[in-house]
Amino acid sequence: MKTIHGGKGTRRNSNGRGSKAKTKAAMETLKKLYEGDLKDIYWAENHLIKVLPKMAKAADSEELRTAFTKHLSQAHTHVSRLKKVFAASGLEVGSKKCEGMDGLTKEGAEVIEDHAKGCVRDAGLIIAAQKVEHYEIAAYGSLRDLAKVMGLEEAAKTLQETLDEEAATDKLLSGLAETINQEAFTETEVMKEEN
Ligand SMILES: [Fe+2]
Ligand SMILES: [Fe+2]
Repeated sequence: MKTIHGGKGTRRNSNGRGSKAKTKAAMETLKKLYEGDLKDIYWAENHLIKVLPKMAKAADSEELRTAFTKHLSQAHTHVSRLKKVFAASGLEVGSKKCEGMDGLTKEGAEVIEDHAKGCVRDAGLIIAAQKVEHYEIAAYGSLRDLAKVMGLEEAAKTLQETLDEEAATDKLLSGLAETINQEAFTETEVMKEEN
């Protein structure tokens, strides 16, 4: 009996150690996923810093230009905040090419290429910019959730600050779209009548 109990006890103990090791390994894997996604959005924000001035220059509407300029200054803030998030998570700052953001900004460049300066191009630029915002919202929301689950409260709080700003920018762009889409529609109607 003793042997059996001892055996069970040993097994239980070794299971305990095994599950602890498993938990640690799972946590490491999760942190790796989190780190990879942090590096991805860090690349994306830095990429936006390069792209947004081109979008602002290409916009015809002064309000839209202002929105892009504001987004540019936000992107600088978001890069600084991400550095804090890396530190609060015990990670080195790093960057990994974000294929998603690269593709979305290429779509924005296509709009500029395909349409002359005016309200139709502006309508297209808003679509491209909102796709960017939605990508950022998804990225920051997911990172905040991962940070929370890993007990990285400070990082989660900082990620939430940026997430709130992304949502506000998206709302601002939706507001601009209402006017600009209408203008673009009226312009096409006028062109139809002229032809
Ligand atoms: Fe951002
Ligand atoms: Fe943004």
